[in-house]
Amino acid sequence: MSERSRDLPRRSCLSVPGSNERFLQKGPTVPADMTFLDLEDSVAPLEKEAARAKVADAIKSLPWDDRVLCVRVNAWDTRWTYGDVIEVVSSAGQRLDEIMLPKVQSAAEVVALDLLLSQVEANCGLPAGHIGIEAQIETTKGLIHVEEICAASPRLETIIFGPADFAASMEMPVLTGGVAIDEYPGDHFHYVFSKILMAGRTNGLQVIDGPYLKIRDLEGLREFSQRTKVLGYDGKWALNPDQVTVLNEVYSPTQEQFDRAHDILDAYRQATESERKGAVMFGEEMIDEASRKMALKFVKRGERAGFKRSVAG
Ligand code: GLV
Ligand code: MG
Repeated sequence: MSERSRDLPRRSCLSVPGSNERFLQKGPTVPADMTFLDLEDSVAPLEKEAARAKVADAIKSLPWDDRVLCVRVNAWDTRWTYGDVIEVVSSAGQRLDEIMLPKVQSAAEVVALDLLLSQVEANCGLPAGHIGIEAQIETTKGLIHVEEICAASPRLETIIFGPADFAASMEMPVLTGGVAIDEYPGDHFHYVFSKILMAGRTNGLQVIDGPYLKIRDLEGLREFSQRTKVLGYDGKWALNPDQVTVLNEVYSPTQEQFDRAHDILDAYRQATESERKGAVMFGEEMIDEASRKMALKFVKRGERAGFKRSVAG
């Protein structure tokens, strides 16, 4: 696992096509928590091999600050995966945090990537286990196996839902992925979101929602991303800088929630340690051990997002 990036925020995960030098240059100027340079579906088949060197050069030469930096390779059912991994990891150097594996169908695919990474790391002088893995669930088979997939390797840092490929795999009658379907009474992906979230959390992973393809509809994005934010997802993909701005807001707690979470922790500590009580009143509510766990989550998320507790007064 990549110790550096495992716990960093991923409210916004920006996709940058690896064949486009202009977009690669611009990448570091967009304040996304995580950026992935893509060799998969945003790169044309005839550009895939040339894109490997562009991506490795961008990692080495551009000022990426301390964000999570990732490369999405092609899936194991293509002919490019091993070449992507060997060429990019061997030449990108230590700054590359993780490899994203798309269309993961089974735990064996994650294990295969883990083994290949171990050999590449040994040959190019990277510390063993340096490169983490992000796995995308975007087929029906992947969803059926998501529990084994999330437990397949200590390198795994996140599990990601890919709504566009998933809709295609389900043969859903939609032409735009990752947006609401008005005719459906409720959230057509509720089961999928929940299943991936549970499998990810059971294995200590961050859980990420995929792209919203109406890239100019920022209010639509804000509203749609509430679904996974409220369930507990850590963040969502962004396809342009405006989407990054919206997502950094949506997947952060508010200052009020952050302060309240601290107040709950203080009140509960006082109750358990000084008064030896396990359940006490906090304003109009009763709080107990479960409240402490909920509050801790807000504090951790707020700290990841750079929040400081307001000074009382
Ligand atoms: C992302 O890769 C998706 O297919 O939605
Ligand atoms: Mg996809």
